[in-house]
Amino acid sequence: MSTGIQQTKDGIVEPDPDGRTPVLEFRDINTYYGAVHILKDVNMKIYPGEMVCLLGGNASGKTTTLKTILGMVEPASGQVLIDGESVNGRVTADRVSLGVSMVPENRRLFKRMSVKENLDIGAYLRNDDEKDDDLDKIFEMFPRIKERLNQKAGTLSGGEQQMVAVGRALMARPKVLLMDEPSMGLAPVLVAQNFEIIQQINDAGTTVFMVEQNANMALSIADRGYVLQTGAIVLADFAAGLLANPQMREAYLGEAGEGR
Ligand SMILES: Nc1ncnc2c1ncn2[C@@H]1O[C@H](COP(=O)(O)OP(=O)(O)O)[C@@H](O)[C@H]1O
Ligand SMILES: [Mg+2]
Repeated sequence: MSTGIQQTKDGIVEPDPDGRTPVLEFRDINTYYGAVHILKDVNMKIYPGEMVCLLGGNASGKTTTLKTILGMVEPASGQVLIDGESVNGRVTADRVSLGVSMVPENRRLFKRMSVKENLDIGAYLRNDDEKDDDLDKIFEMFPRIKERLNQKAGTLSGGEQQMVAVGRALMARPKVLLMDEPSMGLAPVLVAQNFEIIQQINDAGTTVFMVEQNANMALSIADRGYVLQTGAIVLADFAAGLLANPQMREAYLGEAGEGR
């Protein structure tokens, strides 16, 4: 759902719709772990309502990008903006309050706590009285979860844990949902279901920023994508453009279009 394209001198293609404020923005972000330079001059803009994916091989800096958004890692230079507001130096909880929440890599549920307790944790920064309505919406999306509310999260199947992790993130009522490799470790049929849910969440108005190694799958539902290679963005385009890009096909999409 993007209008207009902007080609910058770096060849980065981003929509530039009607002066809207990006809900998420990186300006020249550089992130290090100790002396190791991980993210290199990363620029991104995610507009309200978009579904954008961040693609790239193992260890290219995808998770570090999400951690930088949430303040779990602080960049050495550059600005992170949430809804137009610079959040550098602000703690993770503040950023969640501004409207960002994450489904982490490998779900990261509190395994000895019940499904209900895990969902409640997602809403811990809220003090409105609409949490029960949101729980009902999550049960509608994932009827399986409702049947297992009192079960310990660690005893759920991988697919069910993914549902709880998505539910927990939604309980924060995010403007932007960050997802770190949602398809990882899931059987193909569950991957497809999972992507359908992500699509539904986006259709209902939540902006989605998704990290994936499965480029084919991600580009089948995303509006556009960025490609990260050893911490630098080397390609940025609408999904159709990336799917057709020869460089992309060779490195990330596989000969038979099977992805990896
Ligand atoms: N806490 C950390 N300390 C030091 N190096 C790290 C840390 N986390 C990740 N790295 C390194 O940073 C690079 C990027 O990691 P990451 O962002 O997790 O990549 P991706 O998610 O794309 O696989 C990798 O080389 C990884 O080993
Ligand atoms: Mg990762």
